[in-house]
Amino acid sequence: MPLPAFRADSLSLPLIAAPMFLISGPELALACCREGIVGSFPALNQRTSEGFEEWLIKMNEGLCKLKEAHPEANIAPYAVNLIVHRSNPRWLADLELCVKHQVPIIITSLGAASQVVEAVHSYGGVVFHDVTNQKHARKAAEAGVDGVIAVSAGAGGHAGTINPFVLVHEIREVFDGTILLAGGLSHGEDILAAQALGADLAYMGTRFINTTESRAEDAYRNMIIESESSDIIHTPAVSGVPASFMRQSLEAAGFDMAKLNQAGEINYGEKLKPMDDEAKAWKTVWSAGQGVSQINDVVSVEALVSRLKQEYQSARARLCT
Ligand SMILES: Cc1cc2nc3c(=O)[nH]c(=O)nc-3n(C[C@H](O)[C@H](O)[C@H](O)COP(=O)(O)O)c2cc1C
Repeated sequence: MPLPAFRADSLSLPLIAAPMFLISGPELALACCREGIVGSFPALNQRTSEGFEEWLIKMNEGLCKLKEAHPEANIAPYAVNLIVHRSNPRWLADLELCVKHQVPIIITSLGAASQVVEAVHSYGGVVFHDVTNQKHARKAAEAGVDGVIAVSAGAGGHAGTINPFVLVHEIREVFDGTILLAGGLSHGEDILAAQALGADLAYMGTRFINTTESRAEDAYRNMIIESESSDIIHTPAVSGVPASFMRQSLEAAGFDMAKLNQAGEINYGEKLKPMDDEAKAWKTVWSAGQGVSQINDVVSVEALVSRLKQEYQSARARLCT
């Protein structure tokens, strides 16, 4: 399948470290780009558009320095996540800043707007849009996005409920651009499996919370190490729309687990909360995907990517002999 022009010569693994609310910033994104995988952060991780612009300047300067210092290395481009929704009054102003600073990849969530695609294409950037079902993938295709992120069951954040094998095929039926697969990917062999399934790039969130460059506090990282996949509760109770949270942090915040575990009996409504309320909620109730069961350490991005590369290569070798 076609890949954006940056793929061939700038990535050392077909991988994006996914944007995460309150977790990813320029430190994590730059560390990822330095290792040859796409690093990212949500624009909303800065409280104002002015602060966000400072991050964009930091990224562009940081990448320039890395390229100068390591002309032979695969320095990957970075991505910014924009929540395109009426609950985010900043998205247009933030988009203008992305155009001004020519952010190479824009990842849109919730709304797939042709306005964003037009603006980003004007300077040669690409737009990836995340979806949890075929209907939204079709809408994204109509809006002209370059890539669709299949957020499957078990993912961290606003996860989907569809099995990845089914979701990738369903998206391919309606979209012939780049497909990215998200949901529980933690190892190098998972990246290869995503490619075997028909995805062009893998998309990992939770695994990168437990890196030294993430903004997560130690207790959050420790909870990930201690959690099993069965500890991940997918509920609309925190955000208004369903998202994945660790049971232990829901309990600590006083949620009634008996109610949360009864699917369909909660009446919180399917409306996303205002962004300030989201920030307060996600600070105390910690999101993670089912991949927590595969995470037993906190390592630097350099060590993690090196391990992922080894696992990827040995899985390839195993399959090709
Ligand atoms: C703590 C956390 C915060 C997240 N915040 C965002 C966000 O702000 N915007 C977004 O598009 N996705 C967000 N996500 C989803 C990730 O970008 C990605 O789709 C997901 O983590 C992939 O699944 P995995 O965690 O199982 O690897 C978040 C995920 C987590 C775990």
